[in-house]
Amino acid sequence: MRKDNLENNKIIIGSGKYKISSVNIKKKEMLGMLEEAVARELKVSIRYMYQHMMFKGVKEFAINEELEEIAITEMQHLEKIGEKVIYLGGNLPTMPYEDFAIQDSFKGKMMADIKEEEDAIKLYKEIIKVADLLGDFATKEMMMKILADEEEHHDFFISVLEESE
Ligand SMILES: [Fe+2]
Ligand SMILES: [Fe+2]
Repeated sequence: MRKDNLENNKIIIGSGKYKISSVNIKKKEMLGMLEEAVARELKVSIRYMYQHMMFKGVKEFAINEELEEIAITEMQHLEKIGEKVIYLGGNLPTMPYEDFAIQDSFKGKMMADIKEEEDAIKLYKEIIKVADLLGDFATKEMMMKILADEEEHHDFFISVLEESE
């Protein structure tokens, strides 16, 4: 029978003579991932809000309201993940994950947005796995809800790109 335990921030699998601490994940590592998530949310909040503000042409006008909504959702993600970082004793990044440019073409913008969502999905799935291993179910649940939003955004940008072609 397999039993997962947390002992000194190590994942202990099994018990007695079968006890192995093979997976050595620390809370500190999850905190680093959450700090990266905040910096990414900061980046996309600004990115989508700027895209919303700088819209041009019929295609962009058509999705302009959705872009504003998505930008606000990303800001709410920033708040939720940021509060968790504070709770866990981490530091809030004050700069976006990386600098970015708003592409000229509609297709370029959508492709970049799709990539942002894909990167977020990848990172958040990792955080969910690590939170689960650490027995931090509140963080796991919070990130599962945020992941569902990012999948919706991903789907939205893909559909917009497909319909525009
Ligand atoms: Fe987000
Ligand atoms: Fe998103």
